[in-house]
Amino acid sequence: MQIHQFISRWLIVVLLAVCAAEASTTDTPREHLSLDANWKFHLGDDWPNALRLDKAGESSGPASEKFNDTAWRSLDLPHDWAIELPFDRNADTSHGFKPVGPGFPKNSVGWYRRAFELPKEDAGKRLWLQFDGAFRDTTVWVNGWLVTRHESGYYPFRADITDIVRFGGKNTVAVKVDASRFEGWFYEGAGIYRHVWLDKTAPVAIAPDGILVWSKFKNNVPEGDAEIHAELKLINSQDASVEAKVVYSFKETDGRTTGELNDAVKVDARSQKTISTDASGLRFTLGKYELWSPESPTLYKLVTTVEVGGKTVDRKETEFGIRTVAFDKDQGFLLNGRHYELYGTCNHQDMAGVGAALPDALQYFRVAKLKEFGCNAYRTSHNPPTPELLKACDHLGMVVMDESRLLGSDEENLRRWDTQIRRDRNHPSVGLWSVANEEFFVQSTPQAANVARTMQAYVKQLDPTRPVTYAAPQGDTFDGINGVIEVRGWNYHPGGEMDSYHAKHPEQPNVGTEQASTVSTRGIYENDKPRGYVSAYDNNAPSWATTAERWWSYFADRPWLSGGFVWTGFDYRGEPTPYGWPCINSHFGIFDTCGFPKDNFYYYQSWWRTNIVLHLLPHWNWPGKEGQQIRVDALSNGEEVELFLNGESLGKQPMKRNSKLSWKVKYAPGVLSAKAYQGGKVVAETKVETTGEPASVQLTPNRSVIHADGEDVSVFTVSVTDAQGRVVPTAANNISFEVNGAGKMLGVGNGDPSCHEPDTFVAQPSVKSIPVNDWRWKLATVPAKGALAPEYANDFDDSVWNRIKPTTEGVTGDQVLTEGQTAIFRAHVSLTESDLANPGVQIRFTRIDDHGWVFVNNRRVGESTDWSASPAYDIKKALHAGDNVVAVGVRNESGNGGLDPDVNVEVTGKPVAPAWSRSAFNGLAQIIVQSTKEAGEIKLTASADGLRSATATVTTQSATPRPSVP
Ligand code: GAL
Repeated sequence: MQIHQFISRWLIVVLLAVCAAEASTTDTPREHLSLDANWKFHLGDDWPNALRLDKAGESSGPASEKFNDTAWRSLDLPHDWAIELPFDRNADTSHGFKPVGPGFPKNSVGWYRRAFELPKEDAGKRLWLQFDGAFRDTTVWVNGWLVTRHESGYYPFRADITDIVRFGGKNTVAVKVDASRFEGWFYEGAGIYRHVWLDKTAPVAIAPDGILVWSKFKNNVPEGDAEIHAELKLINSQDASVEAKVVYSFKETDGRTTGELNDAVKVDARSQKTISTDASGLRFTLGKYELWSPESPTLYKLVTTVEVGGKTVDRKETEFGIRTVAFDKDQGFLLNGRHYELYGTCNHQDMAGVGAALPDALQYFRVAKLKEFGCNAYRTSHNPPTPELLKACDHLGMVVMDESRLLGSDEENLRRWDTQIRRDRNHPSVGLWSVANEEFFVQSTPQAANVARTMQAYVKQLDPTRPVTYAAPQGDTFDGINGVIEVRGWNYHPGGEMDSYHAKHPEQPNVGTEQASTVSTRGIYENDKPRGYVSAYDNNAPSWATTAERWWSYFADRPWLSGGFVWTGFDYRGEPTPYGWPCINSHFGIFDTCGFPKDNFYYYQSWWRTNIVLHLLPHWNWPGKEGQQIRVDALSNGEEVELFLNGESLGKQPMKRNSKLSWKVKYAPGVLSAKAYQGGKVVAETKVETTGEPASVQLTPNRSVIHADGEDVSVFTVSVTDAQGRVVPTAANNISFEVNGAGKMLGVGNGDPSCHEPDTFVAQPSVKSIPVNDWRWKLATVPAKGALAPEYANDFDDSVWNRIKPTTEGVTGDQVLTEGQTAIFRAHVSLTESDLANPGVQIRFTRIDDHGWVFVNNRRVGESTDWSASPAYDIKKALHAGDNVVAVGVRNESGNGGLDPDVNVEVTGKPVAPAWSRSAFNGLAQIIVQSTKEAGEIKLTASADGLRSATATVTTQSATPRPSVP
């Protein structure tokens, strides 16, 4: 069948792109529900024995359904607890001095819990819990059942929870995240820092990541009809085989579905089957289409519908683009059949204010920022990205080099590689896979060559369109991985080694997988080791690296190199090269951690974009340096640039391609200005002025209208200006923030690599711990099922009962009973009226061994069935001011048992919202504000001592919220 159809250009409403690429539709059982909101969180490994492997469904502590988490902190995902910890100079340098990971066990395990209801009508559906990524090793329980354990902080994982959930009732998911070990040598965050989903499908359904769609052209050059190929994996989880009808079609931008191709498939009982348009002999061609490219990121959707017995059982929309990619030995990277220079950057995934937990809107913010200087390619160094990053790259236009975390052809690594490729292969932005980065220890060995060959071959089985590379830190070396990899990746070494390698291996295409590593600090023009700052003149690079100008001018002359990826687009936490403490983040970025440009931004913009650029550095506030020589650089792509000081020409110079111009200027305050010329005509002008003292704070939101969906954000630039409104380039005022209305503050930053101020201010409740004292016990009958016993009564005289000896005297209360014995334990605790006025009052036990019924003032408040748990119960209703009696009936079932007298009443106050603040760094700071679900206005005020304060308003518009689990 041949279908020619006109598909109109997709209207790219970028913010709507925040919705899932594989959206679910309402007329099928499929639901793709966000499970991000309303989690409870606790930091600390207080239940090391929670995982029980001896019996199913028997896990304890927070893993158990019965656990009381009311005193835990409430939060929404994504969440990174590492960003909330203070900096600690004893912590790991490369991870940004956050006290988490090796050496910091107390901060390295976090627990998350959440309850959810499932309607009765869901019975018969299949249910999946899907985690896009958590740092790091994760254990997940549902209703006390262990449902999955996952290692690594960068790969998605899921659990089919159909069999163990309760339909028409409450279910509980508990997640233990263990960040005790590192995976990388850069800031990695900690916690569930990506989205969590609950997917529901019919028993016959499209498998997770079960669709592949790609376009193909003769000779891989888009001319004539585009052949669309689709592959589909169907799951039948029923006990009988099914005959399914499959319908493929396209969705237009206006929502119309056009074109149709039918297939049929039989799937055996409880099995899976993959079909493809090719295998079924179906031809699907498009005569009119628009190609995807970073300049014009046109997207189409394949709609796949599955019918059984005339009923639609599943439907999925899969976004894709029509384009071809290739690497050529002579012409370098080819996009849609033509040489396309990769103007790339490598990036880690963290940002100021939020750490690794970026709301989706910040992925768009960062990709859009990179595009400002002409960046068209993004390397996800050194791990698979969150899917939202790829969506942002699809929609905004960015070619992605999608990298695995580790080289390995062992079963586990190949399973991860498989997950990554299947998840990411429909994204048109992905143009290149990378098997690994800088595997120093093995890369030149025949074994590493074998492993890379296996990983490369794996790609070819799953993805018919994309080439594979390896980010090699070697020079002219063909041994090991370089000798077998499709595209030779170059980390550094611009110069003779590249030319000689190319001469020896002329058939192998090349790409600059990692270049530059230039170090600079925004707004700093002299190296300053004690404060941890590096000059921004593009004159500092570590031994293995080069300046921006050095690498780029070399690459620009050699199209066969395909262009390359700068290390890095944004500064990131950790790797504070060339310094250590007090520096806590890197200096490699073209932007700082907030996304404020450093001067190199304009170097790249000059040579990576076609518009006329003219930028001068440094700033012109140098009191005390009057009459001294200052180096002034002009970054421009004009043919000539003329520099002026206070209106007087300091000379015109011709600009060499891919270079920059310098002058030595005797400092005098005033106006430093420049003109760029093209063919003798002025095409651009710019100036830098000496400013006055700080006078005001200014607030500028990047978006003044955002969605009222509880997820969207506006990023405010906070600037300190003089009386004439000019940013004071050295200002460091401390700025306080206050938000009112339909939003909340999410994080602050200023791009200062040595700033130790907090990124986020977590509202913390006050917690007062009151010991429960004077424990006495006696062997006694404990009524079954928690019924009352006379010994529980407040006025019962226990004065002749046994006392529990302190631990120092040898026998603790949890060892006084032998097998089969029962006893009653009694104690007292005194509370005041003001204690009882607090919102939370809990009693927390260390251990009740084995089975216990807990009474406060003769009122039953809880039951514990797990000797290894540290149970806690809400007791506010049972308490009164003054003396209170706690009584526990205990049955010891095996070994020694009893009750550990280390028992406390915890009085939890209302979380106190701390005051938010951040100092400006060289005139600028940033605050990220997030919407609530209420439509309205967010009013943000910024003030600083002695300065005029600023108030800015962002409107939050009602938006269809992401379908989510209530
Ligand atoms: C590279 C490495 C990066 C980063 C960079 C700093 O060798 O791949 O992860 O460490 O050096 O220059």
